[in-house]
Amino acid sequence: MDVAGFRPLCFERLPAAESLRRVREYRERMGTRRSVREFSTEPLPDGLVEEALAAAASAPSGANHQPWHFVVVRDPAVKRAIRVAAEEEERAFYAGRASQEWLRELAPLGTDEHKPFLEAAPCLIAIFTRKFNTAPDGSRLKNYYTAESVGIATGLLISALHLAGVATLTHTPSPMQFLNRILERPDTERPFLLLVVGYPVDGVRVPDIQRLPLEQLVSFR
Ligand SMILES: Cc1cc2nc3c(=O)[nH]c(=O)nc-3n(C[C@H](O)[C@H](O)[C@H](O)COP(=O)(O)O)c2cc1C
Repeated sequence: MDVAGFRPLCFERLPAAESLRRVREYRERMGTRRSVREFSTEPLPDGLVEEALAAAASAPSGANHQPWHFVVVRDPAVKRAIRVAAEEEERAFYAGRASQEWLRELAPLGTDEHKPFLEAAPCLIAIFTRKFNTAPDGSRLKNYYTAESVGIATGLLISALHLAGVATLTHTPSPMQFLNRILERPDTERPFLLLVVGYPVDGVRVPDIQRLPLEQLVSFR
C-alpha cells in the first residue's frame, strides 16, 4: 500500500490575547445557536450550503476514511416524500413507540408528529454514515469510528451554517431507514440524521431551556 508523504503543517501561531479574543467570539456566536422548528421558504444564497459542506468534510475521521455521505435535498417532491415518511414514523413514535419517560422529556420542546418544516425549509441535508468505503480495486475497506467521525463532521456543518446566519434543526425521525429508499442510498450506509436548513419564520419562538453550568460538565486535573 502507498504511504502518504509528509508536508509542512499550515499553522497560524497567535498571540495569547488574540487566541482568547477569537475563542470568546466563537463562544458568543455559538451561544446564540438554537434549533428552529418553523422555517420560511426563503431560498439560501447560492453556494452557501456547498461551502458549509466543504467545512464539514474537513473534519478529522478514523484513519481518514471520511465515512460520511451528505445528500442535499432541494427538490420539493423529494422533500414532500421525506415529510410523508417521517410523519408516518413520528405518528407511531408519539402514539406508543416512545417510552412515557422519553415523551415527558420531549414535552417542554413542544414537538409532535407534524413536520411541516420538512417541506417549508429550502434545504434538507441527509447525513449518512458509511460502514465501508470502496478501494480503487473495488474491494471493501472497513471504516473505523464512523459515528464519532460523522458526529464531528456534523458539528462542523452546524457551526458553519450558524456562523453564516442560517438556522438548522437536527432531526432524527425514528427510525430513518426510509431515507435510504427515498434518496436511493445503498444499505452499506446508515442514516445518521436529517439536518433542516434555512431561515426561521419571522417572530419564531424557541423553548426556554437552560444549559447545564460548565462546572457540572467539565473537570480539571
Ligand atoms: C442527535 C439529536 C437528535 C435530535 N432530534 C430531534 C428531533 O428529531 N426533533 C426535534 O425537534 N429536535 C431534535 N433535536 C434537537 C434537540 O431537541 C435540541 O438540540 C435540544 O432541545 C437543545 O435545543 P437547542 O438545539 O435549541 O439548543 C435533536 C438534537 C440532537 C443533537
